[in-house]
Amino acid sequence: MICITMHKARIPEPVAEQLNRQFNQEIAAAHSYLALSIWCDVRNLKGFGRYFVKQAGEERLHAERILKHLTDRGAVANVIAVPAPKQDFRTLLEIAQQAQAQERANTQGVQAVYEAALGAKDYAAQVLMHWFINEQVEEEDWSTEMVERVQAATCAGSVGDLDRHIERYLEEEVRQVPGNAAV
Ligand SMILES: [Fe+2]
Ligand SMILES: [Fe+2]
Repeated sequence: MICITMHKARIPEPVAEQLNRQFNQEIAAAHSYLALSIWCDVRNLKGFGRYFVKQAGEERLHAERILKHLTDRGAVANVIAVPAPKQDFRTLLEIAQQAQAQERANTQGVQAVYEAALGAKDYAAQVLMHWFINEQVEEEDWSTEMVERVQAATCAGSVGDLDRHIERYLEEEVRQVPGNAAV
């Protein structure tokens, strides 16, 4: 169990525990994306490598976002040891599937925090988690698209071609949502 210091905390303990667990899960996700980027870099898949470096940075920012919430409400977060991420992949498809599995697990983690916040009638944590719930829709979208695009890259030279365009593919939207143009 993850313990956080609740001295003078202004947050229900079950919510703080879940947020602390998710804080560490986001850091572990960053660590894993770093491993995925290294696998790609050494195989000259620089587009995939850059994309995973960017994801690692985003996961760290997610951890910071949760940490700020805990700190603002007087809870002292516990930074636990980060498990060694999986590194022994054989194919680019396994890499993409790892990203997808990780994002699905992250969605489960985010939902567990939200459940705790609902149960405790913790409105502040619920609002915080709304951002994360939305974010996970996007994260599952790009990781699923990545799996599908790698699966479709079957002919000779197509993986190199995909690597040159993967960042643009995953970032472009089919349509602009009003008020969302700058996101
Ligand atoms: Fe995240
Ligand atoms: Fe993510």
